[in-house]
Amino acid sequence: VIGQRELRRWTSPFQVAARRRDNPPMPENTPWWRHAVVYQVYVRSFADGNGDGTGDIAGLRSRLPYLRSLGVDAIWVNPWYESPLNDGGYDVADYREIHPQFGTLEEAKLLIEDANQAGIRVLVDLVPNHTSNEHRWFEAALAAGPGSSERDRYHFLPGRGEHGELPPNDWKSVFGGPAWTKVPDDEWYLHLFDTSQPDLNWSNQDVREEFDGCPRYGRDRGAAGFRVDVPPARVKPPAYPDVGEDYDRHHELSTGAESPMWDRDGLHEIVRRWRSVLDEYDDTVMIAEAWVPSWDRLSLYLRPDEYHQAFDFHFLGSEWDPSRISSRIKQAVEKAGSVGAVPTWVLSNHDVVRHATRYALPNGIDSKHWLLDGDRSILDTDRGHRRARAAALLMLALPGSVYLYQGEELGLPEVHELPTDVLDDPVWERSGHSEKGRDGCRVPIPWSKDGSSFGFGEGGSWLPQPEWWGDYAVEAQDGIPGSTLELYRDAMRLRDEHLRDAGDLTWLDDGDAVLSFQKGDIRCMVNFGDPIGLPDGEVLLASEPSDEGRLPTDAAVWIKTA
Ligand code: NOJ
Repeated sequence: VIGQRELRRWTSPFQVAARRRDNPPMPENTPWWRHAVVYQVYVRSFADGNGDGTGDIAGLRSRLPYLRSLGVDAIWVNPWYESPLNDGGYDVADYREIHPQFGTLEEAKLLIEDANQAGIRVLVDLVPNHTSNEHRWFEAALAAGPGSSERDRYHFLPGRGEHGELPPNDWKSVFGGPAWTKVPDDEWYLHLFDTSQPDLNWSNQDVREEFDGCPRYGRDRGAAGFRVDVPPARVKPPAYPDVGEDYDRHHELSTGAESPMWDRDGLHEIVRRWRSVLDEYDDTVMIAEAWVPSWDRLSLYLRPDEYHQAFDFHFLGSEWDPSRISSRIKQAVEKAGSVGAVPTWVLSNHDVVRHATRYALPNGIDSKHWLLDGDRSILDTDRGHRRARAAALLMLALPGSVYLYQGEELGLPEVHELPTDVLDDPVWERSGHSEKGRDGCRVPIPWSKDGSSFGFGEGGSWLPQPEWWGDYAVEAQDGIPGSTLELYRDAMRLRDEHLRDAGDLTWLDDGDAVLSFQKGDIRCMVNFGDPIGLPDGEVLLASEPSDEGRLPTDAAVWIKTA
């Protein structure tokens, strides 16, 4: 728990005064997104404008000055479309309507206009792998029956067994349980995620044409680009082969083995078609959420006629270890560069345990499983907090673009204490209560130190906030030198001044426990070991106060060397 005392302790003697900035003009011919900092807004949990306990567009609009003060170039808004919200909106019932809980299409347009006025672009989510089971297409497919063209838009198959009582194959849902559900006429449909998220059949012409229209629709309403949900799942082989008992449903992350429904070569042709639609517009960006086991595979998504960006989940997944982190950075820079792209760094998002908590656990602990019933005594919150601050300075110094997840600029940890009876994530039920799910990183943001839902809104909060939440609030950190919020603000401003356009990095050798590189006139050092002395130069920013002139353990520094 952070109190004011701790915040003061983090005050760095090197701290520069907090200053608001205007987004600087980019050099000509550099696409804006190549070095952008994009802030992810999980709308449900960001700010509640109408007091119903759920975040919304009105709340987000009212907080644009905050985002501007942070200095972000763009926001990425998680799905806000019409949806039964079984998977937080990743179960879309109508891709062209906004969920009334979040607002209206008109409000979305106004948000985009206001954001643009403030120099902030808006990216929206595209969810093409599956629809909601409440989408008109799926309802029509159920009504039309076996063999119909309506069913061909999804993956409907007869079951196995004497009476078709067994699923068509042994595929498992990523969330747990079988990937097939039987409908009343005894056919089964495929859903790699929740039962309420039937997978679309991308060999079907209607599907392709419909999704050519989606980016046009978004772009015509002012969206600057699209984050694309689970691109690797798009193509399924017509033979639907079994995967075998040992198949891990978290396959895409944990193994490099071939999988019939994941990362198939055929999906790239679909991407190229999409890209040509986007290229009808200037300056549009498309980012892939591609969990694939290697950078060799990931770089295929980044070829010049495919996605502009792809999150580097290898960086996100790295333990707090200098050689592992540096080898992942080197690999990302090299592999992205081999196809003319730049890496896209990310430490947290709405699907993973927040990094302040991941770094608070010993290396080797799987944070996702620890959440449910892991030993709480191994959690070192203070250490996680220090490392998260250091990681921010590392990430913001690297070449390429950066995605921040709402609340990381406040140093928010995971709310690991959520009682199981409030969990909303379908993972909890589908995993047979063996995984707690992702709600702990989705708890509504604390804006004020106290008051109704810590300033989130007037009407409570759809997930309970812990009593210590206010210690991390914007109000508790705004203007406080050394707070995590001010650290991010300073880092973003200095990034613009010194790092953003500084080109490649050069690795330096400061010993095995230090990750050290030069980029432009800045030397970035991250210390994983005992305190070390600093080289000559002016310290512009440090994640921790100096330890008698030395860089402490789990701290990072930016030094101006020229
Ligand atoms: C990835 C999204 O980030 C996640 O939240 C969602 O549950 C799955 N895709 C399914 O759409």
